[in-house]
Amino acid sequence: MVDISSFIRPHLKKVHPYVPGKPIAEVQRDFGLTGEIVKLASNENTLGPSPLAIEAIKAELPNIWLYPENSVYYLKQELAKFHDVPVNTIVVGNGAVEVIYLLAQATLNPGDETIMGQPAFMIYEIMAQMHDATRIAIGHPDFKNDIGAFAEQITDRTKLIWIDNPNNPTGSYCPRSEVIDFLKKVDNRCIVVLDEAYQHFVDHPDLCDGTRLFKEGHENVVTLRTFSKVIGLAGIRCGYGIMHPELARMLDTLRINFSVNSLAQVAVIAALKDHEHMKKSRDAVIEGRKYLYGQFDMLGLKYNETQGNFIWVDFGYDSKEINDFLLHEGIIIRPGWIFGCSTCARVSIGNRHQNELFIEKLIKALQAGVGKRSHVPV
Ligand SMILES: Cc1ncc(COP(=O)(O)O)c(C=O)c1O
Repeated sequence: MVDISSFIRPHLKKVHPYVPGKPIAEVQRDFGLTGEIVKLASNENTLGPSPLAIEAIKAELPNIWLYPENSVYYLKQELAKFHDVPVNTIVVGNGAVEVIYLLAQATLNPGDETIMGQPAFMIYEIMAQMHDATRIAIGHPDFKNDIGAFAEQITDRTKLIWIDNPNNPTGSYCPRSEVIDFLKKVDNRCIVVLDEAYQHFVDHPDLCDGTRLFKEGHENVVTLRTFSKVIGLAGIRCGYGIMHPELARMLDTLRINFSVNSLAQVAVIAALKDHEHMKKSRDAVIEGRKYLYGQFDMLGLKYNETQGNFIWVDFGYDSKEINDFLLHEGIIIRPGWIFGCSTCARVSIGNRHQNELFIEKLIKALQAGVGKRSHVPV
């Protein structure tokens, strides 16, 4: 009998698999549900994709027998114009997640250190595990990226600092002035990744834009953006990073050839022009935030004010039972245990109807005493 295990690199056996939000079809299958299912688990755009993207995909369909343009030429041109950066600073990937993988692959040696918040976007931790690097995870009582503390942890082994800004899952935010102070302390000793997947939802007056910092001379700053959130194209998989040209060249060399498919390339170019769709999507999130804050206040639940399209809510006791109850009711949220916080949950902001349905089912759960609570003030 073959000992397959002996061929696998030992440190990889400790990698935790990524836990995605449950897909609607899986919940239908697992719970035998036939009615409406509301997915508030993956911070998608519940308004759907831009109609311009759908048109562009339809027009491109007859060409899908051809390989896509590997250089992602036209999209890079658009992005270079949009951000006013040279084309050779842009890396487009199969989702921003591909760019994250490439950054880790290009930089992390075994034993190197990589700093991140706790909680933070789960993939950062997985990158440390995959490359046998040491993860330095820094918590904060208010669930924010405590970047002042991040800077203090830098050693000569530190390669990468990950800042999801806004933070996923908590929605906390580091304004530009704080990031500038932090970058002074970092003093080019490592690469700083500003992951701005939720940038369009930020309404903080001191907006931090990593591309601006980069253009102002912070050459160690990498900015990540995605088409999965405000643009509403999560299923087509496209995201990008803006970084020092030498790093960009390295990442493009490592990238899987043709990783950005031809439908994605035309869809995102079209969607980038749909300012109305982007504005509607952002407005819906800002309105949804207010509604959910009000409901959580009424229910006496603690939550973090968010700069993203999701809210981190603390039930004060293990959220597992609430999560299970909601699944049976057709509402999918993201339980906090995935992020190491068992009393919390991350809820994506849906449209008005979805938010109301979520609150209706949540009240039902709390009134039924699901979990440890015996009564709620409703
Ligand atoms: C902070 C953050 N960065 C990156 C991503 C990945 O985005 P994409 O869908 O482009 O891979 C996500 C997705 O949820 C995210 O939350």
